[in-house]
Amino acid sequence: MKIITTIVELQQELEMHHLENKKIALVPTMGYLHEGHSTLAKAARQDNDLVVMSDFVNPTQFGPNEDYENYPRDLARDEKIASEAGVDYLFVPTVDEMYPADGGIRIEAGPASKILCGAARPGHFNGVLQVVSKLFHIVQPTNAYFGQKDAQQLALIKLLVRDYNFPVTICGVPIVREDDGLAKSSRNVFLTAEERKQAPVIQQALQQAKDNFLKHHDKEFAIQNAIDMIETKTSGHIDYLELRSYPDLQEIHPETNQFLLATAVYFSNVRLIDNILFTIEEI
Ligand code: PAJ
Repeated sequence: MKIITTIVELQQELEMHHLENKKIALVPTMGYLHEGHSTLAKAARQDNDLVVMSDFVNPTQFGPNEDYENYPRDLARDEKIASEAGVDYLFVPTVDEMYPADGGIRIEAGPASKILCGAARPGHFNGVLQVVSKLFHIVQPTNAYFGQKDAQQLALIKLLVRDYNFPVTICGVPIVREDDGLAKSSRNVFLTAEERKQAPVIQQALQQAKDNFLKHHDKEFAIQNAIDMIETKTSGHIDYLELRSYPDLQEIHPETNQFLLATAVYFSNVRLIDNILFTIEEI
């Protein structure tokens, strides 16, 4: 595996592969890699000739009071995990390399970016779409891999590709969990020992909400029940817990077939997200 820090060097490395029509995969990450990230890389490895992983804590997707400075970083560990997962090129640019000048050009995500996680994180998805657009242009991948852990992000990236005609196929990968059901996340390290014990309740509550909804078809009841479960069994506070259609993230209606049940929960030092995607056929 080669570590690459500049855009020009990466483009030069990829030029020959593009000329040979190689299938190139892109796996964007913010580093502090875990099994969720390596699962994306392994999926990419299977279906492509070449795997490029980016490892860049993107400042433009963090709000002024968010955890940009404190976001966990460990490049040596990332190199090991990426290389074991079959990554060919690990792209680790500096902030100056990615954003040498601010020309004032912005990507403005639409209404689907203002709900769920977007409501508490204004501008977050604009930053995500900005960096992902840059990576798509730099790498020009055949396939790009994103986790369903960030279901809203995945949905918005699909809209970006559709609306701006990026010649890339977006591949969604199911959530990778710890043995006790907690969704793997770089931010889990910020949980206190007590909170870590409680955190699997999030997944259990979502599962119960799904079961309740499929059984009783009562959205309000299913959601309130899950909120109560999280608030009584953990010290976390709910940011949102919602049931929406997927991937358009609209209010559900009688024809909705694909559902997203998603939540964000604040603990003392961290905000965790989790979700379940399901279809009505699961009744
Ligand atoms: P990051 O949080 O590092 O996640 C990188 C990718 O790994 C995302 O597509 C995310 O959905 C996926 N991922 C994280 N945890 C996962 C898990 N437990 N199971 C499956 N997939 C998981 O998401 C970002 O970085 C950034 O917003 C990025 C897209 C890189 C743009 O900066």
